[in-house]
Amino acid sequence: MHQLGTLEDLPESYRNELTEQNLVPLWPNMRAVLPPKVPSRKTRTLRWGYEVVRPLLLQAGELTPMEKAERRVLVLANPGHGLNNMQATPSIYMGLQLILPGETAPNHRHTPNAVRIIVEGEGAYTTVDGEPCRMERGDLILTPSGKWHEHQHEGDGPIVWLDILDLPLIYQLEGSWAMEGRPQQTTLSRDKSFADYSAAGVVPNLNFQRGTADAPMLRYPWSKTRSCLVEMAEHYQNGLLQVSYVNPETGASLFPSIGFGALMLRPGETVTLPKRTTACVFHAVEGAGQLNVDGGEPLAWNDKDTLSAPGYSDITLSNGSADQPAFMITADEAPLHRYLGIY
Ligand SMILES: [Fe+2]
Repeated sequence: MHQLGTLEDLPESYRNELTEQNLVPLWPNMRAVLPPKVPSRKTRTLRWGYEVVRPLLLQAGELTPMEKAERRVLVLANPGHGLNNMQATPSIYMGLQLILPGETAPNHRHTPNAVRIIVEGEGAYTTVDGEPCRMERGDLILTPSGKWHEHQHEGDGPIVWLDILDLPLIYQLEGSWAMEGRPQQTTLSRDKSFADYSAAGVVPNLNFQRGTADAPMLRYPWSKTRSCLVEMAEHYQNGLLQVSYVNPETGASLFPSIGFGALMLRPGETVTLPKRTTACVFHAVEGAGQLNVDGGEPLAWNDKDTLSAPGYSDITLSNGSADQPAFMITADEAPLHRYLGIY
């Protein structure tokens, strides 16, 4: 591919006149925005080790009372995107949030879609549009765009969860905003939507009415996901063992922007993921192992660590244990790539 003209090739007076008229010549920048064959990617392969983040998060609990933080979160920011832009990948925001015993996070709602994955602690629940959802290790709890949500913690120890939002995307679309609300009236019994959809393939049909809510199931308990993967392992001896989190009424991804999945690495297993366009994040729910991207330096990960990898790359995951399975929850931008026709 031949070299295109640069800005410096142009007379300064001409450049100044373009700037004055809010005009930019394309050719000096064209290769940067349309590189040959492979896109430029800012997402770096990275690990946020829980052993490092946890003490800093607990320190935030001492340094900043809840009323001064509202959401006491340390954002897992990918430096490739610029730390202050708070992006783990182009469209995904991730943060570890801490709530101390007796604290509450006030009721609010916002345009970005959010999922939280419980990392540590017991006794907390999130109330989503009147439904209290229990929060246990590895559970996935949804707060889709516009739904009211607030958090209570009645347990003894700290509770930590991983928030995953499409905030960078919605922010870029100039569509990101939030509002506060009065505490919710709990109108539904605890985990009602999970009870409705607790058996895969069976959906509620009360008075011959199928559910029509845009997010009919709000809590996806880890125990169910884990036992599904373990049972599947009986039938699939090799190859990537993975499930997707979907809307149980429609089979669609949880959000139009972010797709969620869970995978199991068999004891001693190393798997290479099919090469894909989308960046991806991984949260280790159980076990330890290594992540290798494009044959680079392998990153060792442990239980509760969170990792990122860019798209258009060869990703290899390995389980460090020869006798125990390892489990990870994944999030990627595949639904958006599919919608745009670039997947
Ligand atoms: Fe929120």
